[in-house]
Amino acid sequence: MRGNEWLYLECYNPEKTYYGQKQFDCGNALINAFVAKSLKKQVRENLSRCFVLLDGSDNDRFIGFYTLSSFTILAPELAALEPGGVPARVPCSRLIMLGVAIGFQGQGLGRRLMKSVFEKILAASEQIGLYGLYLDADAYAIEFYSGLGFVALRTRDASLPTPMFMHIDTLRRAR
Ligand SMILES: CC(C)(COP(=O)(O)OP(=O)(O)OC[C@H]1O[C@@H](n2cnc3c(N)ncnc32)[C@H](O)[C@@H]1OP(=O)(O)O)[C@@H](O)C(=O)NCCC(=O)NCCS
Repeated sequence: MRGNEWLYLECYNPEKTYYGQKQFDCGNALINAFVAKSLKKQVRENLSRCFVLLDGSDNDRFIGFYTLSSFTILAPELAALEPGGVPARVPCSRLIMLGVAIGFQGQGLGRRLMKSVFEKILAASEQIGLYGLYLDADAYAIEFYSGLGFVALRTRDASLPTPMFMHIDTLRRAR
């Protein structure tokens, strides 16, 4: 296996052309189509911020990414975790998408991207109130997120993504 010393993370610039972006394949058709067709527009329109993992040994190939936005959780969604203790609308961040190219999975890069996510959220939380980090997990990724400390907000239903959450204090400890 090749070492990962050539990989580096940068803030996605929608005005730049990334080698391999259109061919990016993490094994999830929805995410692949998003990267190929919608990512540039979404970032350009300030609907999310994206950070990309690039392979400096291969023309800075696009091999991983995540996108973040702000989000509001309605109190009943958090009821199992915080019975009665939160306002009706709870401000938080949302991890919209995360992906690592198939040939690079299982080498700790998903975890590396999540470490970067935690750093960004903590930095943002020093400027604006953020109660935690929310995401919708595909069935395949639930164990990955549980392993990082996220908890499911609803019972799993295989036909739907599972909403998951991490409180900002947990996130601070997990980084
Ligand atoms: C989910 C994904 C980002 C994980 O990336 P990765 O680089 O393979 O993950 P890592 O190598 O950093 O794994 C970190 C840990 O999670 C575990 N893990 C990774 N993927 C897992 C999965 N699908 N199920 C259970 N555990 C998983 C690893 O075994 C590892 O555990 P360890 O630290 O105890 O050894 C990657 O598989 C991917 O891009 N999948 C397709 C897209 C996707 O599902 N995105 C999430 C949509 S919500």
